[in-house]
Amino acid sequence: MSTPMSTLEPMIDLARRALANAHAPYSRFRVGACVRTASGQLHAGANVENVSYGLTLCAESAAIAAMVTAGDREIVEVVIVTEGAEICPPCGRCRQQLAEFAGAGAGVYLCGPEGVRLNTTLGELLPLAFGPEAFGTPPR
Ligand code: THU
Repeated sequence: MSTPMSTLEPMIDLARRALANAHAPYSRFRVGACVRTASGQLHAGANVENVSYGLTLCAESAAIAAMVTAGDREIVEVVIVTEGAEICPPCGRCRQQLAEFAGAGAGVYLCGPEGVRLNTTLGELLPLAFGPEAFGTPPR
């Protein structure tokens, strides 16, 4: 693991706190996420379900929204925390949303309450990502 635990611990802590506030009465699957940006800021989010199931917001999306709302843009690392035995690999939509603000080398740490269970990168999770180069827009 390239990133020291001293850097990851505060992210896991914020993601855990976000998880505790998740609104997941339908799936009972609570998720917390935290992104660290190039400016060193941490932004957390929780999943927000809706009785109209398709409207559900994932924890990663919520963290990204908090980041953008705070005026931050460049994601360096992502922590995703669940509380059961399983990890929560980001869904396809979240992978694309992360790719809007993170490079292929961004670390993604899939965690349980006790800490990191699997670490990977956005590039591994989303190879051959669709990006703005496809239609000639200059890089951000
Ligand atoms: N969920 C996330 O928060 N992130 C993901 O990447 C996958 C799924 C949430 C959405 C829903 O509230 C619950 O997990 C079950 O799908």
